[in-house]
Amino acid sequence: MEIITHDIIVIGAGLAGQMAALETSQSSDTAIISKVHPLRSHSGAAQGGINAPFGNATPDDWEKHAFDTVKGSDYLADQDAVEILCKNITSRIVETDSFGAIFDRMPDGRLAQRPFGGGSFPRTCYAGDATGHEILNTLYEQFIKNNVKVYEEWLLTSLIVEDNACIGAFAINLKNGEAAYFRSKAVIVATGGCGRVFERTTNSHQSTGDGISMAYRAGAQVCDMEFVQFHPTTLVGTNILISEAARGEGGLLLNGDNERFMEKYAPAAKELAPRDIVVRSIQTEVNEGRGIGGGEFVSLDLKGLGRERLLEKLPQIYKLAKDFANVDVAEACIPVQPAQHYTMGGIRTNNRGESSIKGLFACGECACVSVHGANRLGGNSLAETLVFGKIAGAKALEYIRKKGTPGILKEAVGKEENRINHLFRSGDGSIAEIRKELQKVMWEKVGVFRNEKDILGALKTLRTLEESYARAGVKDGSRIFNTEMMQAIELGFMLDNAELIAKGALQRRESRGSHFRTDFPDRDDNNWLVHTIFILKDGKPHPSFEPVRITLFKPEARKY
Ligand code: FUM
Repeated sequence: MEIITHDIIVIGAGLAGQMAALETSQSSDTAIISKVHPLRSHSGAAQGGINAPFGNATPDDWEKHAFDTVKGSDYLADQDAVEILCKNITSRIVETDSFGAIFDRMPDGRLAQRPFGGGSFPRTCYAGDATGHEILNTLYEQFIKNNVKVYEEWLLTSLIVEDNACIGAFAINLKNGEAAYFRSKAVIVATGGCGRVFERTTNSHQSTGDGISMAYRAGAQVCDMEFVQFHPTTLVGTNILISEAARGEGGLLLNGDNERFMEKYAPAAKELAPRDIVVRSIQTEVNEGRGIGGGEFVSLDLKGLGRERLLEKLPQIYKLAKDFANVDVAEACIPVQPAQHYTMGGIRTNNRGESSIKGLFACGECACVSVHGANRLGGNSLAETLVFGKIAGAKALEYIRKKGTPGILKEAVGKEENRINHLFRSGDGSIAEIRKELQKVMWEKVGVFRNEKDILGALKTLRTLEESYARAGVKDGSRIFNTEMMQAIELGFMLDNAELIAKGALQRRESRGSHFRTDFPDRDDNNWLVHTIFILKDGKPHPSFEPVRITLFKPEARKY
């Protein structure tokens, strides 16, 4: 097996990974490894914007942003981490702007800011409705300028850990199927979320929770996996994201009786309540038979904005609705329904991006710092990638300063080769079928509304699927861009993520943020103002709990 050596490897080339690599590559030999070309990273799908308390539209400050974030999180976010996010994001946006990102502006030249769910003020900076795409392309230009080494279309298969220190990772070059041993002094994981574990999701096909699973298998703590964000407005059929910006710009939600139903559920914020509340409201309308035509969706009405404003502020939504649902949004409503959107849990890190394994850092959606707690505010994920990507990079640089190049773990090489070759055996069962069943059971039994019976049912199915996975094999023997092999490896990661989500959901006997238990419908601060931690022990997730760090804002009832 080829051995490739760098000081630092960053896994994942979305915004968090790019930000971390830009930080480390100035003074260390850094390489970024990504399953896809960096510009195909899922960050590029982020539409509506990035929150920062510039106060350009109305007076604002970091403390107000922090309060909205903590309240939005249903008080589960660690408040010292939220402070870091809200104090640093304006500088990161100014930096990105100076790199050349084209944000929308007000007539006087200052950055425009639009309202987003759960925000007390218009705080979301944006580039039309393709904000992630704009920032991703801008950072990538810096990559090229700084000659950052990129291994693109390489699939990471596992982390290499010795004496609780991460010293590299194994990866397969998808172009020729050959595996390599990446040796490094530190590893930064920035692989995004695990949305594809659910049947309905806005996430791209690559969002299979690879980094979370790899870190968990390597012995790292994984935190709050039960908190899965569902987005209220996704296009029926494909579940393509229809940005919250559509509601920020004035879009209305209507049920089958043409009623603006959000007035009942969130009388003040209405369509701009936080996502968990809007999702449950839509799902309640649907479950009680008030979907459009009694179906599983409601309408998003943007007609009031007029064609000119739609084309100026929401050009992507305009086109997506036309291309994928044949809807002219200036003339008709968009059929929308909730779908999985974001993984709030992930690899547990401290405020510097350090995981529980030395030399292993995490940032972005795969990490749980935790700034989003039980429910992320729209516009805070892009913010997190920039702020904590840079912080994780800086900390990794500091860590490697005292480190020599690690040795090669020869035994690990043999084991990994066997593990990969084993996938190519002639097994029975289809990887694609197991994946489909996994997605279906997670959506139906561990989705928007949960209860003990359903979750136990899901866990039983997951065990059966694990057994089927152990018997299944890759039928396509080719080593050149073998997507069946790639999906087989990803399915292993997805099964881990699904188990952690379901087990977390089962043990949390309360409702908080995105996690709603119909059998425990109230928030329970006496018993559950804690993070759920899992580590892998004897082949199973072993649970423990960690208190939430509260600094400025005492938990109170959430009203919108
Ligand atoms: O609706 C949206 O534009 C999504 C934004 C986000 O998830 O932050």
